[in-house]
Amino acid sequence: MNEPIPQLSSYDEPSLDAAFATLAEEVRSETSAPHDAEVFRLRWLSRKQGRLKLVSDAWLKSAPSEARKPLGLRFNQLKQQIEAVLADAAASPAVPAAKVGIDITLPGSVRAPGIPHPLLKTMQEIVAVFHRLGYSTALGPQVETDFYNFEALNFPPNHPARDTQDTLVVAGQQSRPSRDRLLMRTHTSPVQIRTMVAQAPPVRIVVPGKVHRNDAADATHSPVFHQVEGLCVDTNITFSDLKGTLDHAMKALFGSSVKTRFFPSFFPFTEPSADVQISCIFCAGKGCRKCKHSGWIELLGCGMVDPAVFASVTAERRKTNPADDAYNPERVTGFAFGMGVERIAMVQHGTSEIGHFYSGDMRFLEQFA
Ligand code: DAH
Repeated sequence: MNEPIPQLSSYDEPSLDAAFATLAEEVRSETSAPHDAEVFRLRWLSRKQGRLKLVSDAWLKSAPSEARKPLGLRFNQLKQQIEAVLADAAASPAVPAAKVGIDITLPGSVRAPGIPHPLLKTMQEIVAVFHRLGYSTALGPQVETDFYNFEALNFPPNHPARDTQDTLVVAGQQSRPSRDRLLMRTHTSPVQIRTMVAQAPPVRIVVPGKVHRNDAADATHSPVFHQVEGLCVDTNITFSDLKGTLDHAMKALFGSSVKTRFFPSFFPFTEPSADVQISCIFCAGKGCRKCKHSGWIELLGCGMVDPAVFASVTAERRKTNPADDAYNPERVTGFAFGMGVERIAMVQHGTSEIGHFYSGDMRFLEQFA
């Protein structure tokens, strides 16, 4: 890109003056019109092919020793002239776009606006259904104590769920009393306890959040996933309130034609406990691959709050108010439920691979825009 530098006929001062004047004029004419500072810098200062390098190679290297000083002086002046141009350009880079050949009438590059992640969307949909029923949102920590995650929820000391098989525990906790040992919460249920310890009934909360389990990832499991918990405690809360509420919620999420059915189950913190199934939305209950030909899809766990849970809450509340009786199971009853957000989103979208939600693959995510 660089044309040759002028010939130097002799090393006497008039010849040097003439040769450097030609170069100085070159610099001036290049910079009097709008120019690209980077192109200019490379043309003159590039270490391999820059014009100053050519001058140095052709003139300085073969100069007789008495010519070195006058030549070097002029060389440095030229270099300063070039650097001054570059310093100016850096200080006021705003060469009008039109002058450097940018067509400002061309369409710009479009940056796609973000969309809510499908899991977040499903989580918000679930929460919104309960907000409309008068529930509020409660949150709790992901690093939880054994007490809130297990003990207060009536998990006996040697319950298999406490085993590190299922629970990711925080290291170095052995010297602490077992109730204070830290772990990654395995469900959102500890927020039931935190809320009841902090506030008297009536309680109506939903708890969206991340939970952690020592599970290998496969098509339907991920060691980190999301749940929405629910808790309702008041006077005269019955199992039929639980059924009505969850039947309404499932219809709100999956369409008014879905049916629900409650199957006996077991959770330490509810008695009785149930698993809730909805009629298969893929085959309307006729039986297909998605519902394993049963016509039903299992979606969540629920039950009536076990009096043992109220007892743990009361013991905790009595530490600050010894006369506290707000959660006397003779007076209040309640129901609770917990659902996996991924599971619900997978049914909503007919996905059989949980990993799609975490892949960051735009081809998958964009479908939910
Ligand atoms: N915590 C349970 C789990 O992670 C889900 C659950 C079941 C929550 C029943 C509840 C409930 O509140 O009543 O498997």
